[in-house]
Amino acid sequence: MRIVMIGAGYVGLVSAACFADFGHDVTCVDKDSEKIAALNQYRIPIFEPDLDKLVESGVNSGRLRFGIDLSDISDADAVFIAVGTPSRRGDGHADLSYVHAAAREIAGLLDGFTLIVTKSTVPVGTGDEVERIIQETNPEANFAVAANPEFLREGAAIRDFQHPDRIVVGTDDERAKKVMGQIYRPLYLNQAPILYTSRRTAELIKYAANAFLATKITFINEIADLAERVGADVQDVARGIGLDNRIGAKFLHAGPGYGGSCFPKDTRALSKTALDYGVQLRVVEATLTVNEARKRTMSRKVAGVLDNDIRGKTIAVLGLTFKPDTDDMREAPSIALIAGLLDFGAKVRAHDPVGMEQAKKELSDIEYCDDPYACARGADALVIVTEWRQFRALNLERIRTDMATPVIVDLRNIYRPEDVRSAGFKYESIGRA
Ligand SMILES: NC(=O)c1ccc[n+]([C@@H]2O[C@H](COP(=O)([O-])OP(=O)(O)OC[C@H]3O[C@@H](n4cnc5c(N)ncnc54)[C@H](O)[C@@H]3O)[C@@H](O)[C@H]2O)c1
Repeated sequence: MRIVMIGAGYVGLVSAACFADFGHDVTCVDKDSEKIAALNQYRIPIFEPDLDKLVESGVNSGRLRFGIDLSDISDADAVFIAVGTPSRRGDGHADLSYVHAAAREIAGLLDGFTLIVTKSTVPVGTGDEVERIIQETNPEANFAVAANPEFLREGAAIRDFQHPDRIVVGTDDERAKKVMGQIYRPLYLNQAPILYTSRRTAELIKYAANAFLATKITFINEIADLAERVGADVQDVARGIGLDNRIGAKFLHAGPGYGGSCFPKDTRALSKTALDYGVQLRVVEATLTVNEARKRTMSRKVAGVLDNDIRGKTIAVLGLTFKPDTDDMREAPSIALIAGLLDFGAKVRAHDPVGMEQAKKELSDIEYCDDPYACARGADALVIVTEWRQFRALNLERIRTDMATPVIVDLRNIYRPEDVRSAGFKYESIGRA
């Protein structure tokens, strides 16, 4: 199939490279000319494991190319829209201006039947609006609009795309079903279930999935708070409930609150959409409020470990990205934590294996260090915020002798309390007495 992918971000770039790997002919278009120039020199603008190899092999095979204009659309069987849908400033609704702009740009260029597919996460009814925009801009156009939400996780994006739990396709149009069936055929052969639904249902599935996962994390975070008070261990509680098949073990890791490019904005957008339709999603609203508050409380937790005396103290922060194996800083818990520590008058230095360039755009008043040991040197407390593999087996002896005071606050529970305490540290973690 001939595919045009609009947007070369985390989703567009991974999808384009994977579709080319399936054997399709893919043009990936982004209006960010620097991004496209980098890609044309095999430089990947984001950090995603193994994406460089997949892009290189796609380009070398002649099946993947990058550009800034949409001239290839006239030949395309399908045009995917994978542009950003960030929170709209002020009200938390999804900002659909990029999606609508892409629809307008596509409209005038269509020639012959073309399937337009929204891969971006978009509120219920967006497919209808994309259809309306295209029809209005080009009344002659022969097209259908389908929803195909993406469920990949940054850091494991290629694997998720190639081995999805399910593929959701929202359309009632038989021509659209045929095109989507052909595009995903290589996965279908591997038994990935394709779930055909109405377009609005597909749009809602994506938000419901993210809201559910965000709620699961928030639930275990609140249980962690209780575990600390009652002298229980949240890790064991999570295991104890997670072994129940009805619950499942995933997304039950207590921590500093969820962040990232999806859960915060998608939970906000879902609750706004619901209100527009006269429905209040109280569970989702509670998740949002609890999570925002939690991210802010983490600086108080660190201050508490230092007896609330942190003015002028140096706090070393390990991990800045919202999770390991990505350079994505969007709504990362580190941002609220560091802002709180700076407000308390602490000096902050930080290290992240790949996220420091992105972090500098968000966090300018801190010192950046080349490695975890340089970060810990002379510090009054070491705070683990993102559970990068590199932080899981630190030389504790070396860190203890280098720090001003041996204090570790582990917001991801990657160490065993008895190990760290017996290495001579004051140690605090999440949900463990
Ligand atoms: N990042 C994730 O893990 C993830 C997972 C699943 C779904 N999603 C959803 O996928 C969508 C894209 O997310 P992302 O993280 O890839 O975003 P991103 O911000 O990384 O990338 C979006 C890209 O689209 C480009 N763009 C915007 N308008 C354009 C236009 N008219 N023409 C060409 N290019 C244009 C931007 O320059 C940017 O490079 C969002 O709706 C998001 O919610 C993201």
